[in-house]
Amino acid sequence: MSDKRTIGMWLYKNGGGEAIGKKIIKQLKERNINTIDDINLRDATAKNANIVHNGVKLNKLDLMFSYNAGEQTIYQTYIYQALNRIIPMINSYDAFALTEDKFHTSFVLRNAGVNTADYRVCHRDDTEQLRKTIQKWGKMVYKPTDGWGGVGLTKIESEDNLDILLPFINQMNVRQVFVEKFIKYDNTDFRVDIVGGQFVGCYGRKASGTDWRTNITSGGSVFMRECNDEIINIALKATKACGVDIAGVDIIYDLEKEEYVVLEVNGIPAFATPEQEKMGLDFNDKKIKLIVDLIDKKTRKKNK
Ligand SMILES: Nc1ncnc2c1ncn2[C@@H]1O[C@H](COP(=O)(O)OP(=O)(O)O)[C@@H](O)[C@H]1O
Ligand SMILES: [Mg+2]
Repeated sequence: MSDKRTIGMWLYKNGGGEAIGKKIIKQLKERNINTIDDINLRDATAKNANIVHNGVKLNKLDLMFSYNAGEQTIYQTYIYQALNRIIPMINSYDAFALTEDKFHTSFVLRNAGVNTADYRVCHRDDTEQLRKTIQKWGKMVYKPTDGWGGVGLTKIESEDNLDILLPFINQMNVRQVFVEKFIKYDNTDFRVDIVGGQFVGCYGRKASGTDWRTNITSGGSVFMRECNDEIINIALKATKACGVDIAGVDIIYDLEKEEYVVLEVNGIPAFATPEQEKMGLDFNDKKIKLIVDLIDKKTRKKNK
């Protein structure tokens, strides 16, 4: 068997992704690792022992690096899961799937001793549980377990609010209801990037004046923000608990409990865009280097 290593990659192209991809490929080449780019699992076909994309047997690759949040579909995810049974992937399918689900993530984090917002999950027919919860907390947030970008999050501030929401939930294709205690915070968060168990960088996001969500898609904006050791350690612990090689951990400060809480662990955190780099977010090169290190380490042949 030759020493030559070959990996597959699928990285988003927008927001500066294309240039990032080129840098990764170049640095991998310098380490004698060949990259087959643009492996969109949407176009892959399984044929008996092989998963084939453009004539390439993906199951023969040394690793697959999948980093394209926006375009992930049910079919791609299904193939991702199968492929990862045979070759290593970054992130692993299990870690990827975990971070795609807010309840599963919070459940794992809480068992690892990481603070999250208090939450409840119950069957959508268990209105008694939901009623008890809103009475106890006063204010809570309904979250689709598989959402992103702040989409579908609904603030519930009374039993009346709950009664209005329930018929909608009952029409959805899910059985579980996930609600979190509404946290009093200053409408800013920390996004902490981790690669291979190492701190990459941090920035903040601030909700617009009219919204309580910090997501850019909800009108939030990015700002330069220093991070302290406590926050970094929480992010490292959360990343480890979820088993993700690459993560962007979202953290806010609970003003009532006076502690940091992890809101979510993103498995495909975006690199800084060219505009954000101009603002001073300068962690892209460090992140690229750590990703290349990680791919190098995970593909190193054993008996050389
Ligand atoms: N329990 C909560 N209390 C107060 N604000 C919250 C809570 N959960 C989320 N938010 C706000 O909503 C935003 C989106 O929530 P998040 O759980 O990260 O979902 P998404 O995957 O849609 O980004 C957060 O960045 C934060 O600003
Ligand atoms: Mg978020």
